Amino acid sequence: MEKILVIGANGQIGSELVEALAAQHGAQNVIAGDIGAVSLYGAARYQRLDVLDKKTLTHLIESEAVTQVYHLAALLSATGEQAPLKAWTLNMDGLLNILEIAKDRLQAGKALRVFWPSSIAAFGPNTPRVSTPQTTVMDPTSIYGISKLAGERLCNYYFSKYGVDVRSVRYPGIISFKSPPGGGTTDYAIAIFHSALRGERYECFLGPETTLPMIYMPDAIRATLELMAAPAAKIVNRSSYNIAGVSFNPRELAKEITRQLPASLAAFGIDYNSDSRQAIADSWPQSLDDSVASRDWGWKARVGLVEMVGDMLANVTVDSEQHECVV
Ligand code: SER
Repeated sequence: MEKILVIGANGQIGSELVEALAAQHGAQNVIAGDIGAVSLYGAARYQRLDVLDKKTLTHLIESEAVTQVYHLAALLSATGEQAPLKAWTLNMDGLLNILEIAKDRLQAGKALRVFWPSSIAAFGPNTPRVSTPQTTVMDPTSIYGISKLAGERLCNYYFSKYGVDVRSVRYPGIISFKSPPGGGTTDYAIAIFHSALRGERYECFLGPETTLPMIYMPDAIRATLELMAAPAAKIVNRSSYNIAGVSFNPRELAKEITRQLPASLAAFGIDYNSDSRQAIADSWPQSLDDSVASRDWGWKARVGLVEMVGDMLANVTVDSEQHECVV
């Protein structure tokens, strides 16, 4: 039986991953950890937790006999640029704390399997942009991307040197409706739905032709769970796997939303006003080659643009607040 800790449980991925893990392993076997005072979603027992507090983290993992950690706490690309040193410290020291604890646990005969997310942000302007290979040039320019590339190498290091069972995917931009976006460059593709469902025009901070790799949350969660459930021998890559979902640009997304939107909301439209996030997006791939993940652990995306737009329009809850990330 697994005992699971999710760090960053109040975030975009955590909020949905905790629920999926609770359904799979029983809510009593999942601990939802986050820095906030309270749980925002409540699908499992909540523990207030700072990933930079290694002592408390070690104690929790030992006393609860945790067997799997999903470490999701991070500052994303856009917010990271506002506070680069904070992003570096949180993203790197947090990961190092988990890897060190996993190493120590393993040496004490108690295996701890670790999931840590990398990102398309680990690539850079000299990376081939279309169907980006698993192994290629990586020269990230954002502090977030630099932390992800360094994190990938650390994961590989802790596996090669100490045998830590750490697994990772390079998430594309994740589209979801449960929690508000958290400071990413890809978050326009969530905010746009809130404008559409209010029947308002959306001012996009990326240009119309900015194609990026994206993935719908159910596929992202399934990738995470499938990777963590795969036999260790199949996980040949211990840095991070490319996973592809669906690639599109703001113009294509707005067009599909318009096509599916009820006539009563026809005032929706899109205007373009690029800001500093454009340069970040321009340094990232447009699509990913995920054939290595398919070969090693059977990954295959299921949700395309049409289905994703339909599901988002059916499920996004519109309130009076702007849901665009604050940078
Ligand atoms: N969605 C993330 C971001 O835009 C990429 O990992 O920062």
